[in-house]
Amino acid sequence: MTVLVTGATGNIGRKVVDRLLELGVRDIRALTTDPAKANLPDGVEVVTGFLGRPETMSVALADVDRVYLAPYPPTIGITCEMIAAARVSYVVALSGGAHWQQHADVIAAAAVPAIQLGPGEFCENFAMWATQIAATGTVREPYPDVVEAPIAMDDIARVAAALLAAPDDAHLGRMYELTGPEALTRAQIAEQIGIGIGRPVRFETCSREEALATLAPVMGEQASWYVDLLAAGVQTPQQANDLVAELTGAPAISIAEWAKLNADRFG
Ligand SMILES: NC(=O)c1ccc[n+]([C@@H]2O[C@H](COP(=O)([O-])OP(=O)(O)OC[C@H]3O[C@@H](n4cnc5c(N)ncnc54)[C@H](OP(=O)(O)O)[C@@H]3O)[C@@H](O)[C@H]2O)c1
Repeated sequence: MTVLVTGATGNIGRKVVDRLLELGVRDIRALTTDPAKANLPDGVEVVTGFLGRPETMSVALADVDRVYLAPYPPTIGITCEMIAAARVSYVVALSGGAHWQQHADVIAAAAVPAIQLGPGEFCENFAMWATQIAATGTVREPYPDVVEAPIAMDDIARVAAALLAAPDDAHLGRMYELTGPEALTRAQIAEQIGIGIGRPVRFETCSREEALATLAPVMGEQASWYVDLLAAGVQTPQQANDLVAELTGAPAISIAEWAKLNADRFG
């Protein structure tokens, strides 16, 4: 029962490997472009390849029963065809709605059963506030009332590992919109990060232009994309759900808990 983890050194893929091991899965094959640098745990079979280079995937997919599919939209069509041709039982794919919709549609239409995980905002994304929190104890953003339920990448990995470790036909074909435990405004998220790191964090509303100037040094070209995404979020408040707890048996961590675990990032 070999489980192939693609993007196995990635932010989420690496955690999927660890969580599979914790669940007692021993037959894990990890895909990386550079096995020498990958530093994967002992006992994990490491193969060279990348979803963006389909010619590397035949070897990686040989005798594989299940696949964790990292998000790589440019080759998702051919990847799904190769996974189906390899007679894989099912895939667990990190995908999602919004700008990931096309990616999700290709997976849903593929000739291999899939379970898709569509997270919204990651807790890890709030590391982009670290510089301003360390320097001023204040977050300045244009849309204080946008509501989100941020989820930690490790909770996404826990769900992926649980679904890969214990096959259950009831999950096949589902899109699970994973969230953290509570829906909060951006201003409340700043406050909760303050609670997590043990120092008050204030929130001040600023103009879009000011937010771009603050975020550009941290996020580069992605800053304007991100601020536009936030603006769109004003009309679409995210609701929290209990899917992480239902699918893994343990609840998702809160943004305050995540901040506590990552306090060193905030200076
Ligand atoms: N919020 C949402 O709704 C949502 C939904 C779906 C996806 N996402 C995205 O998913 C990402 C997290 O996914 P992840 O942690 O699995 O992936 P990741 O951190 O982007 O890592 C992917 C891995 O693929 C390998 N790779 C090799 N060549 C690459 C290339 N040219 N471009 C990209 N990757 C390459 C790298 O490993 P090696 O170097 O070892 O080969 C890398 O560690 C987030 O950053 C987010 O952008 C977000």
